[in-house]
Amino acid sequence: MIVPGSNSQALGAALAAETGYPLADVRYERFPDGERMASTPGIDSGVDRAVVVASTTTDAAHVELLQLQDAAREAGADELVTVLPYMGYGRQERAFEHGQPVSARAVARAVSTGTDRVVLVNPHEASVTDFFDAPCSVVDAAPRLADPLPPDLEEPLFLSPDAGAVAIAESTRDAYGRGDVDYFEKVRHSGTEVEVTPGDADVSGRDVVVVDDIVATGTTMSESVGVLADRGAAGVYVTCVHPLFARNARSKLERAGVSAIYGTDTIERDVTATSVAPAVADAL
Ligand code: R5P
Repeated sequence: MIVPGSNSQALGAALAAETGYPLADVRYERFPDGERMASTPGIDSGVDRAVVVASTTTDAAHVELLQLQDAAREAGADELVTVLPYMGYGRQERAFEHGQPVSARAVARAVSTGTDRVVLVNPHEASVTDFFDAPCSVVDAAPRLADPLPPDLEEPLFLSPDAGAVAIAESTRDAYGRGDVDYFEKVRHSGTEVEVTPGDADVSGRDVVVVDDIVATGTTMSESVGVLADRGAAGVYVTCVHPLFARNARSKLERAGVSAIYGTDTIERDVTATSVAPAVADAL
């Protein structure tokens, strides 16, 4: 049985269709004091296997996930798998200053208490898998990023805004079937200030697909789009696994001159154009 969190209902349905597992009737309610109650009133007693699918994009989503794990256990699930399509706090994988928590470890430990195993989709740092006390595997959804791209891109260049995402750009290019791969050098000055330095690739008259694991504030992508537009790219397409799109990310990209924006359903947004369900289903 697939048990979706409130932020992952479309992906839950896609995963149910992909696996043939039934989709649980889940209720998301709140008490007058603000506390949440996520429940699965229709779950079969003694269900063999429950798959809780919940992107933890908010603090509330973390609580909801713990409740859904507990509800599935309470209903007698023999095996419980937790899929975190997007792992919130995953980018806090270390204490950056003395006195700070390793937040990714803290949430990983909490998630581990209620599950037999964990599946992550393209975590920002692969090392976060070590923080889970339960066995944890990773799904690479990058090949799905090729799905919504126009088939007739002109001399496509798949470009990552930093060296860390070049593997995702390569996977996307491989799935698309043709094109070159390059990356920018990126220096982050603050949470909302980055500087990107182009490589040597000539982008003039070419379609460029900028590929990253996540668009958060949109700073990285909008800087990249602006540089590519200045250098004469024909079209600049943005695609990512996790379309978080915090604050004014969308406006920043549009103002920078992006041609189109695509993302997966790890975070359900209006730019969601492909599903990670087939890749996640393979990992279940
Ligand atoms: C950084 O290493 C990541 O791959 C992303 O480039 C980054 O997290 C995106 O953040 P933002 O959209 O806020 O620039």
